[in-house]
Amino acid sequence: MSPESLPAWHDSPFMKATRREPVDCVPIWLMRQAGRYMAEYREIREKTTFLDLCKNSDLCAEIMLMTVEKLGVDAAIIFSDLLLILEPLGMHLEYAVGEGPVLHNPIREGADVDRLCELQDADSLDYVMDTVRKTRAGLDEKLPVIGFAGAPFTLAAYAIEGGGSRSYRHVKMLMYNDPGAWKALMELLTRAIILYLNAQIEAGAQVVQLFDSWAGCLGVDDYRRYVQPHTQAIIEGITPGTPVINFATGNPALLPSLTEAGGDVIGVDWRIRLDDAWKIIGHDKAVQGNLEPIVLLSNPAEIRRRAKEVLDQAEGRPGHIFNLGHGVLQQTPVENAIALIDAVHELSSR
Ligand code: CP3
Repeated sequence: MSPESLPAWHDSPFMKATRREPVDCVPIWLMRQAGRYMAEYREIREKTTFLDLCKNSDLCAEIMLMTVEKLGVDAAIIFSDLLLILEPLGMHLEYAVGEGPVLHNPIREGADVDRLCELQDADSLDYVMDTVRKTRAGLDEKLPVIGFAGAPFTLAAYAIEGGGSRSYRHVKMLMYNDPGAWKALMELLTRAIILYLNAQIEAGAQVVQLFDSWAGCLGVDDYRRYVQPHTQAIIEGITPGTPVINFATGNPALLPSLTEAGGDVIGVDWRIRLDDAWKIIGHDKAVQGNLEPIVLLSNPAEIRRRAKEVLDQAEGRPGHIFNLGHGVLQQTPVENAIALIDAVHELSSR
């Protein structure tokens, strides 16, 4: 491609940061930037169930475009959910009111793994690709669209526990007691996730993020043995040229293995200082993070102070994408989220 024909998003601060090129202003977006903390979202959500909402690409695109406009963030993640991919694999997914997601036929043994369906192509998830296409079409050309998927451990954990969990007892029992079934499950998920993410890229996503939201429940050796090869296979299977953000939360001791699994950008949660994390990850990779999400429940002056601490730890090094250490909480005042985004732009602009 000649330089004149490069799309406008190519040299956005966000995409430059994924390549560790210098930027005029540190890019920021927030995990879970669209959701129940926003009145406009709650209004749309009153008229539909969450699952129906996720399958309505017009509404999904509308929600994210509205959010990007309101917050002034530097990227739009598609409005979707991590667990939708489990449906075409044969899982009965429901978002129960007040309970969060429930899988009604959890996987508990090898025979359950054998009953799962192989994802042959991404057609059954075409509504997600429609969301990507419509979000891309409606978004400022200078901003990238982020596609996403759950990492295989987090998806397997939901499929096995059947919903939220405190001890992760069932997932660890299957992993320890039936390593063959575990491997078969992780490989099936890996193939499905590669298809799914590459279809999102084909539909118009400029960058993809893997969420390993539950990986932090694992010790380092278990992560290395049971998870890392699969996450690595996914990252190696992503369409070349598309940056990958590899994010896990809950256990900073996993950072070396997470980095080894791959990704252009490593997502860092708030439990470790960003400067310490970047040293472990290596300055030859970009990082994303890592403000404690509860700081957004305080006040604009405190938010600005804490944002500056994170920026100071990045030391102006190219390759920092500002984000929270995990998703926006439902109790967050929207004006505080806006105050953070404004503060990061202002404090980092040169
Ligand atoms: O970032 C964004 O704004 C895009 C949308 C997005 C949602 N879920 C919307 C959502 C993204 C990126 C996700 C990812 C997701 N989903 C993760 C990984 C991120 C993380 O937090 O680690 C996980 C673990 C899920 C699974 C999931 N979906 C849970 C646990 C829940 C219930 C918890 C809750 O907050 O209620 C959901 C539902 C969900 N996903 C909502 C939204 C806006 C709330 C649904 C509602 O309106 O009731």
